[in-house]
Amino acid sequence: MGTLLSVSSVVAALCFILALAGLARQDTAERGNVFGVVGMIVAVVTAIASTLMSSQHSALVTLLLIVVAMGGGACIGIVKARSVEMIAMPELIAILHSFVGLTAVLIGYSSFVQEWQKGTVSELDGFHLGEIHIGIFIGAVTVTGSVVAWLKLAGKISGAPLVLPARHVLNLVAVIVCVVLLVVFVWTASWWSLIVMTVLALLLGVHLVAAIGGGDMPVVVSMLNSYSGWAAAATGFMLGNSLLIITGALVGSSGAYLSAIMCRAMNRSFVSVILGGFGSDGGSAGAAAGADPTATHTTISAAETAELLSGARRVVIVPGYGMAVAHAQYPVAELTQKLRDKGVDVVFGIHPVAGRLPGHMNVLLAEAKVPYDIVLDMDEINDDFPDVDAVLVIGANDTVNPIAEEPGSPIAGMPVLKVWEAEKVIVLKRSMGAGYAGVQNPLFVKENTSMLLGDAKESVTSVIQSL
Ligand code: TAP
Repeated sequence: MGTLLSVSSVVAALCFILALAGLARQDTAERGNVFGVVGMIVAVVTAIASTLMSSQHSALVTLLLIVVAMGGGACIGIVKARSVEMIAMPELIAILHSFVGLTAVLIGYSSFVQEWQKGTVSELDGFHLGEIHIGIFIGAVTVTGSVVAWLKLAGKISGAPLVLPARHVLNLVAVIVCVVLLVVFVWTASWWSLIVMTVLALLLGVHLVAAIGGGDMPVVVSMLNSYSGWAAAATGFMLGNSLLIITGALVGSSGAYLSAIMCRAMNRSFVSVILGGFGSDGGSAGAAAGADPTATHTTISAAETAELLSGARRVVIVPGYGMAVAHAQYPVAELTQKLRDKGVDVVFGIHPVAGRLPGHMNVLLAEAKVPYDIVLDMDEINDDFPDVDAVLVIGANDTVNPIAEEPGSPIAGMPVLKVWEAEKVIVLKRSMGAGYAGVQNPLFVKENTSMLLGDAKESVTSVIQSL
């Protein structure tokens, strides 16, 4: 039986690796998901079988407890997954990360309490004590960090970065004290060193994420994804479960890799993200350096937009968060098809952090059956704008903000889609308001820009009717 369980663990681990490989590309993503589901079923069955084998209670009681716990969790999960809006996914992901962290903390404490009740704490080897301490540390940072990220993303607290004086020193001191407490715990197995470290780690999690703000929040989501993976791996060490170690390491390292990709896309330093205090060194969010306060915008009607688009040779559509809010992806797909039928060359330009989660726009466009080959990444399209007749910016703002090229602006250095280099830009949004980063956008008052104000879905539908 033991050999069968080991083989199942290897099969599940292989499935997870194949799932990650599949998810790397749109056309293989579905296959990747199937591998993920199969791997997870094998993993859950293996975990249940090994729990039944090692349980001190009768198999029936153990099975009943597992069914109640998993059934309850599954019911809540299904209800939540069915009701969550696509635009609320990042906050759901953030709060789910906090559960992984909380699990690591609870398992760490329960594993220590068990030994303590049996009076065998003094017999524990240093390695196991170290696993407990490190597992609780990573878990505690993940719990509070994820809760703060959830509060920020859900708009329940301000998204502005909390900039305490000497914040890096504070973080460094907290980490050093936790390392000292680790040594003390391994040496003495004392309760106080574990509890003080937990409190410090919880505070560290709050501080690390509270210090990140504005348009830099996407990196927080992927960073917490990574932390939750390492928390799961630490739990695997505490439970002696090699599959959990492998899975946690896969999630931890892929999350770290994704964070690195996002940092590159936003021209930020990976180290500064890990240390916190990220996204806080810019100027005032409200004051758009370089924006002329006297400049006014021009508007355009849906009929004029339709005329302009049908006379264009090359059109680029740049979607953003507003397209998701308006659920405009279906009319956008229809508009694309109509224009292509008229012989207009239409492609999409996708910014890596457009929307509210990695790949947000790609998912929406795939859902509306927009062909993959006309959905281009920022790097693939950014040099082509001077050769584009018209750009349709649909609910995007920060990702097309020229202020990013101004040193000292809050989003300075973040690469953006240079839509203003095209002959004509039409921006679809409801008002002249700022985007996620709270920065005014001088694109809206440029000479070659016209605003088609209103809900994106309604505006696109009107353009289709006029076409
Ligand atoms: P944003 O800068 O968020 O701007 C979206 C715009 O959509 C808003 O200015 C809003 O203007 C408009 N809008 C909202 N509802 C609309 C509707 N129903 N119809 C038409 N327009 C509507 O969008 P973006 O360019 O996609 O940039 C994303 C931002 O989010 C970046 O700052 C990024 O760093 C951040 N972020 C990204 C992620 C990930 S991983 N992608 C995660 C967290 C944060 P009105 O209110 O005037 O309509």
